[in-house]
Amino acid sequence: MVNIPRVNRIVKNPLFMELSLKNAQAEQKRKFCSHGFDHGLAVARIAYIFLMEEKNTSLSKEVIYAAAVLHDLGRWREYETGEDHAIVGAELAQPILEETGFTPEETEIIRIAIREHRCDPNAQLSVLGKALAYADDWARDCQSCKSQGECYKYSCEMDEIVS
Ligand SMILES: [Fe+2]
Ligand SMILES: [Fe+2]
Repeated sequence: MVNIPRVNRIVKNPLFMELSLKNAQAEQKRKFCSHGFDHGLAVARIAYIFLMEEKNTSLSKEVIYAAAVLHDLGRWREYETGEDHAIVGAELAQPILEETGFTPEETEIIRIAIREHRCDPNAQLSVLGKALAYADDWARDCQSCKSQGECYKYSCEMDEIVS
């Protein structure tokens, strides 16, 4: 198992904890999927497996996991102001990545991927952005969701996803 100390530092980072709590509070009554740490971790694991299967070794496990656990951190702001949480999240991630020891180059790769995570994965995206975009969908168990009929994200293909 690869050691990922900087990701463990993100999880304990005061700003990360504060904003995660804001997300949890904003989603208390949400009937669709929520965006807590369990979702970030699921996206991390799936994105990592995806990149391993693609034989893409240009990104470290820490960079992949950091992007995934941070990707929805701006959700609460979208509920408050309507801003795109992908754009907001990339901004919010900056000080957290600096405080937890990521280099400026790694930080830029992660911030681009967070900005891209809502895009069509078939579009022209960065390697990590594409992995996050796929993993974000594959991390959801739409098949057994009670809100499936009302969900904007749901499509028949989501029933086929078992990876
Ligand atoms: Fe998102
Ligand atoms: Fe997500």
